[in-house]
Amino acid sequence: MNPLIFVCTLFTVLAAGLSIVDESAFDTSLSARQDADGLIYTSSSWIWTDAASGSTPRAFRKDLSPPFGKSLVAADILISVFGSLSLYVNGAFLGDPASTTTPSAAVFCADLLPSENVFAVEASTVDGFVGGLIATILVTYSDGTTDTIVSDSSWLSFAPAPAGFEQPAFDDTEWLPATTIGTYGEAPWDELLLPQNPPAAFTTDAVWVWTDVIPAGAFTAVPPSQRAFRATFPPLPGQTLGAGSIIVNAADAYTLYVNGVEVGSGFDQTQAQVYQVNFAPGEAEVLVAVLATKVSTGDAGVLVSVALNMAPSGRANCTAGLFYTATAAPWKSTTGAIPAGWQLPGFNDSAWPEAVLEGTWPTAPWGTPSVVAVSPPVDV
Ligand SMILES: *[C@@H]1O[C@H](CO)[C@@H](O)[C@H](O)[C@H]1NC(C)=O
Ligand SMILES: *[C@@H]1O[C@H](CO)[C@@H](O)[C@H](O)[C@H]1NC(C)=O
Repeated sequence: MNPLIFVCTLFTVLAAGLSIVDESAFDTSLSARQDADGLIYTSSSWIWTDAASGSTPRAFRKDLSPPFGKSLVAADILISVFGSLSLYVNGAFLGDPASTTTPSAAVFCADLLPSENVFAVEASTVDGFVGGLIATILVTYSDGTTDTIVSDSSWLSFAPAPAGFEQPAFDDTEWLPATTIGTYGEAPWDELLLPQNPPAAFTTDAVWVWTDVIPAGAFTAVPPSQRAFRATFPPLPGQTLGAGSIIVNAADAYTLYVNGVEVGSGFDQTQAQVYQVNFAPGEAEVLVAVLATKVSTGDAGVLVSVALNMAPSGRANCTAGLFYTATAAPWKSTTGAIPAGWQLPGFNDSAWPEAVLEGTWPTAPWGTPSVVAVSPPVDV
């Protein structure tokens, strides 16, 4: 197709459902919702063990009993670690969100026992980074009232994490109070991106990737060609997918597929799109697939950021959320001919090499594209 006709066709298709998104509008709605839910970090502290820094996994426990006459029902848990974490409630594994040294936050939901409960976290950081764990837990009682539990020195800690530390019966009498190492908003942790409902992917969590054919730093003279990219995201254990938000852009053009359904396309390096998708009940995983087209020789890149919200199986009143893109992984890309069916969930991409990270937002030569919301949400 003549490139000009291609541009016009895309523009006509896109012009139908666009509105310019101001990123500060995301922040406003985010604050409003987080304030309403109490799932914010304002009163929580960054905690850690007082042991020397380094990658040794640390263990944290918080025992929780209800006040006299009340019965615990459920917990919504907002949690971040400057590194990686595994979260357990009453010995059951809830999840281990993607490890990152620029942490975003994850939200988990759990049913509680009426009286005694134990929240347990194994956390580690990488050598050379300050650690840090921060959490806010909104608990609901059987009478519908709520309380907020924050991370502070009432949590117990031990390093290295002993085997079985997450089990309710584990003896933590030798453990020390966690060390408070900072208040929320303070450097080096700063304020974090918090999951939203409906989900919203953030540009500040976005990466530009390309295939491994061209070495990092040499993406400037890519000839007209097409490359395919795939990334697969599983839901957390015991949770089902609800909705997703995907920011995407490419130099020069892209078509976005989610779980095999074509969601949209774009052809403007200065303008990224953000799509909302709703997952069919029972979807086992999310496959985001992007076909990138270089129309003329020049810079090549695909911009992506993914946020997913999940709901625990059998509970409609609780939404868990997670951001996914802080590195090029788990993006994979083709280097040769693009095989038929490459955008479908069943396609075997195990032989595809990992994509190469070109940079995190904002990255030269693309700078800061505007972000345009495409509506309505697409069912996938
Ligand atoms: C959430 O819904 C479940 C039923 O799906 C109910 O048992 C539980 O009490 C509800 N929790 C809250 C906090 O409303
Ligand atoms: C996917 O392909 C690889 C070889 O590229 C093969 O080893 C593997 O068994 C395949 N997996 C499935 C589920 O077919």
